Amino acid sequence: METSEPVTGCIETSKWDIFRAAIFIGGISIFLYFYLDARVPEPIPEKWKVKVMDAMMKTYGHTISWLVYFGLTEPFSDLDRKISDWFVLTMMTGKPWGLGYDSRLLIQDTTLAGVRVKIYQPIQDVGKEYRPALIYLHGGGWTLLSVDSYDPLMRKIARESGVVIISVDYRRSPQHPFPEPLNDCLEVFEYVIENYDELGLNPHKIAIGGDSAGGNMAAAITLRHKSKVAMQLLLVPSLQFSNWRTSSMLENSQYLNKSINNLDAIYFVLNYLGADHQYKDAFLANNHTTADFKKSQHGDFVDQSIWMPRKYVRDEKMKYNLETTYNDGHKHIFNSIKDKIVDPLLAPMLADDESLENLPYTYIMTAGYDILRDDGIMFYERLSQLGENAHLSHFDDGFHNAIFFPHGPLRMGVAIRIVDDIVLQLKRKLK
Ligand SMILES: *[C@@H]1O[C@H](CO)[C@@H](O)[C@H](O)[C@H]1NC(C)=O
Ligand SMILES: *[C@@H]1O[C@H](CO)[C@@H](O)[C@H](O)[C@H]1NC(C)=O
Repeated sequence: METSEPVTGCIETSKWDIFRAAIFIGGISIFLYFYLDARVPEPIPEKWKVKVMDAMMKTYGHTISWLVYFGLTEPFSDLDRKISDWFVLTMMTGKPWGLGYDSRLLIQDTTLAGVRVKIYQPIQDVGKEYRPALIYLHGGGWTLLSVDSYDPLMRKIARESGVVIISVDYRRSPQHPFPEPLNDCLEVFEYVIENYDELGLNPHKIAIGGDSAGGNMAAAITLRHKSKVAMQLLLVPSLQFSNWRTSSMLENSQYLNKSINNLDAIYFVLNYLGADHQYKDAFLANNHTTADFKKSQHGDFVDQSIWMPRKYVRDEKMKYNLETTYNDGHKHIFNSIKDKIVDPLLAPMLADDESLENLPYTYIMTAGYDILRDDGIMFYERLSQLGENAHLSHFDDGFHNAIFFPHGPLRMGVAIRIVDDIVLQLKRKLK
């Protein structure tokens, strides 16, 4: 009797264990089903890694939503930014605190012209003069991320190219709308050009680059300081704010649209423009500009039937239907933003032909499954037609933030190819 009781108890426990295991597995399955259901673009070979990235970005979004719900933070607060850094660092390195000491680089946290920067110097060249440099402006929609989340990528590019990198921690929107983030970057650029000697840099080999929002500001700085820039690198750049119904917006928002291709990214643009978030739907419908604007020369600069080569568009119907729709939109919205969206420092694609003359060498990188794909491609077409020295590297199987994953747990082939290409360009043009 005494021995049978524990046995019965044991059997009951094991039934209970099975029950618990079933609940656990069921729970995980439901979690995975809802989290990993992203439509991952067909030609992306490493689908599982992309799905994990998608799940992590969704988790970040939900984390912020819950914190906001409980009144613990606001969207786009410093805490939100810190959490976005942790998520990105975890995706890139497997650890929210990122990487430790690197014997191949001298990494300094300092300020230039009063702006926080992170400087990466390949160790073998520390103390030397006339070194080439890249001033790098990180992505994150002018709103999120920082030099900290870009640290692993900056280290990799600095180590492999041998170029000094100055990564700029510009102030972000919505607290600091246009032109404040750009002004921070301009001040760092101008400081570096003036103090090249002290920094041990070659004033004729200073490149400027950035991805996404950073690519936008890199293009703006190049327009302002053409002759002082050795080359510009515009990686998956955002270059205009007047046409939101590009073929890449329409066809790529079918993929990963709860994470990297989420059209809520329009909030970042509204943050930078200092515009009301309630204009979201009007912007996405191209109702933020008037029919007259769409027919104007500025409208022509973003007209896909003029600038978008069909070969990059996958959707068969869309391919032959790239005409602008001249809908009239909402005049009050247009009036509140019309001066900004035609300013080339905000929207480099709307610069007139003369402003685009005599640009330095321009390297543009675009990704097939990016909602911003067409911005980079159309800008490249325009520069080519003007006879400017430009190069387009288009990665058909790439997506907007593929650049994050040349290493770490989600290491992907397409990311390795992208970063290798960037490193090669820097070596060719600057060394
Ligand atoms: C998101 O993608 C799904 C298909 O995966 C599509 O049905 C849905 O309309 C998309 N949402 C948006 C806002 O484009
Ligand atoms: C955009 O404008 C058109 C008319 O030009 C209107 O039918 C449509 O509802 C508007 N959509 C939004 C989101 O403003």
